[in-house]
Amino acid sequence: MGVDVTIEGLTKSFGKQLIWKDVTLTLPAGEISVMLGPSGTGKSVLLKSLIGLIKPDAGSVVIEGVDIASCSEKQLYEVRKLFGVLFQDGAMFGSMNLFDNVAFPLREHTRKSESEIRRIVMEKMDLVGLIGAEYKLPGEISGGMRKRAGLARALVLDPEILLIDEPDSGLDPVRTSFINQLFVDLNAQIDATFLIVTHDIHSVRVVPDNIGLLYHKHLAMYGPREMLLSSDEPVVRQFLNAQTIGPIGMSEEKDADQLAAERDLDLPPLPPIPLQLEPSSGIPRRSQRPPGEWCRLHGVTPPPGSFRADSALVTTGVGGA
Ligand SMILES: Nc1ncnc2c1ncn2[C@@H]1O[C@H](COP(=O)(O)OP(=O)(O)OP(=O)(O)O)[C@@H](O)[C@H]1O
Ligand SMILES: [Mg+2]
Repeated sequence: MGVDVTIEGLTKSFGKQLIWKDVTLTLPAGEISVMLGPSGTGKSVLLKSLIGLIKPDAGSVVIEGVDIASCSEKQLYEVRKLFGVLFQDGAMFGSMNLFDNVAFPLREHTRKSESEIRRIVMEKMDLVGLIGAEYKLPGEISGGMRKRAGLARALVLDPEILLIDEPDSGLDPVRTSFINQLFVDLNAQIDATFLIVTHDIHSVRVVPDNIGLLYHKHLAMYGPREMLLSSDEPVVRQFLNAQTIGPIGMSEEKDADQLAAERDLDLPPLPPIPLQLEPSSGIPRRSQRPPGEWCRLHGVTPPPGSFRADSALVTTGVGGA
């Protein structure tokens, strides 16, 4: 279950506007990856390119031997069945109630009976906490509820790959935590490959196996969670820790004068790397690795106090905290 998504040399422009160039990364089968980046860096465009809604100018997106960027419409139709997608705006049909919106992919792509459809829809509505709202129209509910309805719809076909664009924008902090737990639980249960776009740096610290950062028209870094959370690379460090000091300015990049003025400022130390969120069922994640393993294998000292619940690592002296 779950499939690799192999992206190589992906490049996209709209007219003269280059969005990103040479994006190369693999979403490992059954793992959760998160994509970050300042607003407008093309995260949503990247998700849409992965399902063939947007055609890249160059590069490939290979899933089970099929290149989404160059395959036929018929192949694309087949490959799309592997995906569940939550678009940033929810993309609900405004004239259909939530039940029919969530049931839509089942009616479109399967021959299931109405009673079977009802069972699946209600199961997914329950999962996202929307029981009781199934006959409301999208325009009659809050933004956060629309997000959750979109998520229920993304799940009905038991996808192998889940693409989720900003699930937490418009959600309160408690629901964000529930949604994060839901992702980790689902991932353990269905082993799907996840790509989540988010701006929530708390979620980024505990949910994914891998983190990527799009910045300045390229993929600035992509790799295991511990690599980015312990990184001193200025852009990564600034973004992951929501700091004003660093190369990223209000309008994307700071100029040389602004950067020079910051040269003598002390950066706050990196916060400890927390433990990953575990599935509530007690089943380990398929991709679960010992906390601190990546750092150990790569000779990187994690920030002081990291992985505190893991006594084995603490006794090996994490950064001399
Ligand atoms: N269909 C399109 N035609 C032309 N330009 C587009 C199209 N879709 C997106 N863009 C442009 O591509 C750039 C990246 O947009 P995108 O929505 O991917 O950003 P984002 O990283 O998801 O931002 P946010 O964090 O605000 O959601 C923007 O400048 C946007 O205007
Ligand atoms: Mg977006």
